[in-house]
Amino acid sequence: MRIGILTGGGDCPGLNAVIRGAVRAIEVDRDGTAIGFHDGWRGVLEDRWEPLDVDRCRGILPRGGTILGSSRDQPYTRADGLERVKAAVDQHGLDAIVAVGGEGTMGVAKDLHRDGIPVVGVPKTIDNDISCTEMTFGFQTAVQICTDAIDRLHTTAESHDRILVVEVMGRHVGHIAVWAGLAGGATITLVPEVPFDLDDVARRITARHHRGRWATIVVVAEGARPVPGTVELAPRPFDAYGHEVLGGIGQLVASELSQRTGIETRTTILGYVQRGGSPVAFDRVLGSWFGVAAVDAVADRAFGDMVALQSAKIVRVPVAEAVGELKSVSAELLRAASLFHPPRPPADPVSEG
Ligand code: F6P
Repeated sequence: MRIGILTGGGDCPGLNAVIRGAVRAIEVDRDGTAIGFHDGWRGVLEDRWEPLDVDRCRGILPRGGTILGSSRDQPYTRADGLERVKAAVDQHGLDAIVAVGGEGTMGVAKDLHRDGIPVVGVPKTIDNDISCTEMTFGFQTAVQICTDAIDRLHTTAESHDRILVVEVMGRHVGHIAVWAGLAGGATITLVPEVPFDLDDVARRITARHHRGRWATIVVVAEGARPVPGTVELAPRPFDAYGHEVLGGIGQLVASELSQRTGIETRTTILGYVQRGGSPVAFDRVLGSWFGVAAVDAVADRAFGDMVALQSAKIVRVPVAEAVGELKSVSAELLRAASLFHPPRPPADPVSEG
């Protein structure tokens, strides 16, 4: 067996665990060989790669990022993209390409499978928004980083009796925000799934502060949006791949809350810190397990499938199913988180000063 591995999209703690797991499984379990394409699909298109073996993977398990590099390049944006992918598979004598990535990479895997390329998907994202898998590796690490930050922010918020707004990642969904908000004891968590009303948030916070010296932590996912028509959002730039460049909603929330409540407010944007550094144990295990399972899928010629975590087992699902719709935070978890929000006051204490 010979497999080509690539890592695409935004990086994520645990990618190296997948590479290491897959290489180990190929070498010791299947008596095969592996190559790693550099910088996601770009390496396939440009034929940039390196041989991968157990020796090359020594020491990479606790390292964040990806030893192969990553990019958001996609074969179908080039006229000869599919031909180049076919040529790479033939030239290197590959049984399959194992594509480790998020929404974009899995979308490409689906289309390549339709076009006859043997490909197996491994889901990756700190946002945890890929359907058909209960968890993606990288998510738990990001949640832990955010929780540690929130723990630290509590003490400085308390010392100054301030509102501290913490912006976390979560482009389309609020898994990181809800988990870190719950784990860190946030006062209020704002997520893309539920448009927020800043008047309502301000009333709840003001009432809480009126009851005594209560510092407030507001966690906001970068993709969270106000109820349409309530607050003007500045237009955002787009990156080279047509994705909106997010970041900054925390500042807007902070300045609006400061005006509405009169309470001193500050913002912390955690940004790429959430994606960097060493994976927590869970992500190392899930990444390793996904890597091994992806090789099993290739051995079974389960092309067009993605490995996934369901009920504490690794299963295979058609990648086409996984890319249909993003996985939102469940209504049950959103409800649980909302129970920790301060109650809505009966009157309007904002106008009382
Ligand atoms: O990996 C997902 C994610 O972390 C999103 O939450 C974020 O919006 C995006 O990546 C930013 O990625 P980049 O700036 O690397 O394109």
